[in-house]
Amino acid sequence: MQYFIDTANLESIKKINDIFPIAGVTTNPTIIAKEKRDFKEIINDIFDIIGKDKIVHAQAVGSTAEIMVKEVQLLRDTFGENFYTKIPVTPEGIKAMKILAKDGHKITATGILSPQQIIMAAEAGAEYMAPYINRSDNIGENGIEIVKDAYKILEMNKKTDEEKLARYKRIFEPKILGASFKNVRQVHETILAGSKSVTVAPDVFEKLIYHPYTDWSMDTFNSDWEKVYGEKTLLD
Ligand code: E4P
Repeated sequence: MQYFIDTANLESIKKINDIFPIAGVTTNPTIIAKEKRDFKEIINDIFDIIGKDKIVHAQAVGSTAEIMVKEVQLLRDTFGENFYTKIPVTPEGIKAMKILAKDGHKITATGILSPQQIIMAAEAGAEYMAPYINRSDNIGENGIEIVKDAYKILEMNKKTDEEKLARYKRIFEPKILGASFKNVRQVHETILAGSKSVTVAPDVFEKLIYHPYTDWSMDTFNSDWEKVYGEKTLLD
């Protein structure tokens, strides 16, 4: 399982990275713009906090395949192996993915709101595919169904994976990176639908393991212990 934090706020990243076993950080242009700082400085600062062995996903902003391809080439040279460029699942984005994947670039397809967008991006060579669960729910559709349907289709087409392995010269394992969550239930259902990667904004991230009865249980244990042993720990 891979948990990513969906933010570029350095304080939040420090706090969550310190506690949780995260796989890395995801951002999008809105998230980056909130920081009002130079893009490259932000990405370098994020890698400094989480370590270069973890992954950062950030989005290309060019509107044509040609510009996106150039952006991705520049970003890989700047940030190295664990940097994934997010490319939108628009026609220009799919065209860019196809060109970039052949060169071994690491691509995360983004802005996904339908199962067909997942399959097409996987065919074009994207490694991660990010369906927007809450944005789908917001317009009366069902974000979790996107994930379920996409896995069904990916499973039915498994046989072709060997051919893709040869085509992209790397282990081809399309990963569905569940994104855009407003609550823990959406995260949980996305994981149950088969997603082994999710990206969660800090406010929801901290709630992933929150349970009031756990806190109540620990408070009771602590006060029972203190009545007999005071401040002593097992080290005393
Ligand atoms: C992920 O790729 C996006 O940054 C993100 O999850 C979108 O989330 P939002 O719908 O909460 O803005």
